Amino acid sequence: MKRIWLTGASSGIGAALAEVLLEQGHQLALTARNTAPLKQLAMRFPDQVLLVPGDLLDSLQVKQIGVRIAQHWGALDQVIANAGTCEYLEPEHFDAALVSRVVQANLFTASLTIETALPLLQRGHAPHLVAIGSSVTFLPLPRAGAYGASKAGLRYLIDSLRIDLDRQGIAVTLVSPGFVDTPLTQRNDFPMPLRWSAEKAARHIAQKLERRPYEVAFPALFIACLKLLGHLPKHWQLAVGKRLARPGQES
Ligand SMILES: NC(=O)c1ccc[n+]([C@@H]2O[C@H](COP(=O)([O-])OP(=O)(O)OC[C@H]3O[C@@H](n4cnc5c(N)ncnc54)[C@H](OP(=O)(O)O)[C@@H]3O)[C@@H](O)[C@H]2O)c1
Repeated sequence: MKRIWLTGASSGIGAALAEVLLEQGHQLALTARNTAPLKQLAMRFPDQVLLVPGDLLDSLQVKQIGVRIAQHWGALDQVIANAGTCEYLEPEHFDAALVSRVVQANLFTASLTIETALPLLQRGHAPHLVAIGSSVTFLPLPRAGAYGASKAGLRYLIDSLRIDLDRQGIAVTLVSPGFVDTPLTQRNDFPMPLRWSAEKAARHIAQKLERRPYEVAFPALFIACLKLLGHLPKHWQLAVGKRLARPGQES
């Protein structure tokens, strides 16, 4: 039984992962801004859920979450920094504010989560830091500049922290999902090949995390294609990207 802090637990991958981990008997501290789904989980698993709602963009709120976890559990065995979002850039109108929003929502929230979690992990059993990145980091895709930049930043942060935290015995895993059917991707207006359900993704992530690997990337075929294309010369990557762009967007 682990003491796990899971962020972004109100929806999508996080909500499905909460279900799986609670069914496995773990203790979960759950964070999101929308409290209703968290309260429903707390009612179903009253002995296992610690409600720590809040806005992960607000450093004070995140610190208070840390204090609450420390008071209740004294330590953490695992943190899963899952909270995040996606917005796409329009090619005709580059929007720096959008880039800032997405980087804040994905990289800064994860950083605040890590800052708060680390002292608690240092007191935990077989401590494990997990962040949800994205397969977008394997290949540049049209309109995904802001999202990809935030997740590429997260990838570097996590890969670097793995080195820094090794001496403290804290394992570090980056999860890189392909397309998963969640409220986030239901907004997309383009084909999403090999899209998994949130439940399937959550079961896969939970099972893979047990071995504390460096990276969990799925679905395997989708990842293999992205990695292959990502190794092509840049002019071929440009040609592939233009084929993927929306009609009228490729010039
Ligand atoms: N779905 C995919 O295909 C896919 C693929 C690759 C990577 N990912 C990544 O997987 C993670 C989960 O995505 P999802 O698809 O499950 O999206 P989702 O259904 O929109 O869930 C996002 C979660 O993050 C929380 N969140 C966002 N900003 C927050 C903030 N400032 N403070 C607290 N909580 C915040 C949301 O809760 P509240 O709104 O209630 O605060 C929600 O619980 C994200 O990091 C995403 O980038 C998703």
